[in-house]
Amino acid sequence: MAKTITAQKLYETLHTIRVGAAVCQYSLKKCEELVPLINEINAVKEEQNAVILAHSYVAPEIIYGVADFVGDSYVLSKNAMDTTANKIIFSAVRFMGETAQILNPEKEVLIPTTEDGCTLADAINANQVRELRQQFPGYTFVCYINTTAEVKAECDVCVTSANVHDVVQKISNNKIYFLPDKMMGQNLIEEMKRRGVQKDIKHFTATCYVHEEYDEEQIFKVKSEYPNVKIVSHPECNTTVCSHSDFVGSTGQMLDYMRTADASEFLMLTECGLSSRLEVEFPDKKLVGSCTLCKYMKSNSLENILRVLRNPTDQNRVILDETTRQKAHKCIEMMFKYTG
Ligand code: 13P
Ligand code: SF4
Repeated sequence: MAKTITAQKLYETLHTIRVGAAVCQYSLKKCEELVPLINEINAVKEEQNAVILAHSYVAPEIIYGVADFVGDSYVLSKNAMDTTANKIIFSAVRFMGETAQILNPEKEVLIPTTEDGCTLADAINANQVRELRQQFPGYTFVCYINTTAEVKAECDVCVTSANVHDVVQKISNNKIYFLPDKMMGQNLIEEMKRRGVQKDIKHFTATCYVHEEYDEEQIFKVKSEYPNVKIVSHPECNTTVCSHSDFVGSTGQMLDYMRTADASEFLMLTECGLSSRLEVEFPDKKLVGSCTLCKYMKSNSLENILRVLRNPTDQNRVILDETTRQKAHKCIEMMFKYTG
């Protein structure tokens, strides 16, 4: 029997969400509108032996209504590897769906977004990587998971925001080319210096349009009002923001930091979806400041999920050329090798 939820129960879960735009806030009436769709998705999902993986940035009604697994890119790639379902609905962005398909060639992977880009993944293609490899011979090419399958296929090791520093430290080659995120590349250089690790690190120039918005002025402003606030940022923020932060890590690590930190006020410098999750999961801790929306992640909706379960279009299917898939698989496997 598929699980069902009532509007009252959904409202009890979501009513603590405050930070962020009005789209992130929930009344009982809004929950009454959402619940029929949630219950229908859960029934269809069970009929089809499908599983829904959701990134923390998507809407709370997806996370708390229909998702089977929620997490950061690293955790979701592990979940994608472990699932026994026939069908994976990846509620996030295209590169995450591609990662699931790379790891599960025998499964059907569907993406419900209407805007499936990402300013990092869209910034570089396979030809550009091939040219860079000619320009930087002898370098190990490390790609962030926020890249397309064809870009991963041209690189040596994949990393996520949860493991980039540890993986790069373990690579025996001292010459590293990191792509595509400039901010993460610069943060990587700073972190290797802090750890006393000698590496010659070059990086590409792309940015995440959500995280590049944050600056130290916002931090100073919030700190003047809340002197005990903990500043928590994602490594896609610039090095100045990260240097003023009490903690820098993946969205999953940011959540763990908030769970364990001995503090009651936090400024989370990342997308609003994570802030919403934190407000649901830690109602006794307070989020201050604001957050920013990622239009790509927010183009996931319950309506789109139901539609791709019932009538997927070619745009919703993740289909990869087998040679590209195998090469990209090697790059992701290297990450698992380094992370154990
Ligand atoms: P995480 O892997 O930290 O969840 O990051 C994904 C992402 O797209 C951040 O903008
Ligand atoms: Fe890409 Fe930035 Fe959106 Fe993450 S928040 S999916 S990096 S555009």
